[in-house]
Amino acid sequence: MSTENTTPSVPECACLSRRQTLRAAGAGVAVVAGASTLAACGAADDVQDAASSAAGAASSAASEAIKAADIPVGGGKVFESLQTVVTQPTAGEYKAFSSVCTHQGCQVGSVADGVITCPCHGSQFDAATGEVKQGPATKALPAKSVTVSGDGLSVS
Ligand code: FES
Repeated sequence: MSTENTTPSVPECACLSRRQTLRAAGAGVAVVAGASTLAACGAADDVQDAASSAAGAASSAASEAIKAADIPVGGGKVFESLQTVVTQPTAGEYKAFSSVCTHQGCQVGSVADGVITCPCHGSQFDAATGEVKQGPATKALPAKSVTVSGDGLSVS
């Protein structure tokens, strides 16, 4: 007698598969949690795929206005719901990047003195260009486009 198990096995670390993550991204559900779970498993490639999908899912919401006054000169602010970090390297010059760290997919945590820092393993990125200033990350944060409209900023 065969006892075929049709339930997909769950990996020991309870990682979401790429397919599960993409499905979640399509449904707009818990994408950040999925990316974090994958990060905990060390599947950097899957994290980047999930991050790309998540960015696409978030892009429709990315038209949400961000107050320019909330972005300090020389600093910035992380908008986790948009998976975006917005910076203002010099007065009136706004930049935006994916806030998903290119190392293992954590959300970057802070922007100060022209540096975006990831709290997970200490990677640092240039707040003006997104380029890596300090590893372990080796790839820049992907840039997004920022549109200034009155007192607000839109990111896409
Ligand atoms: Fe490792 Fe960001 S996830 S430094």
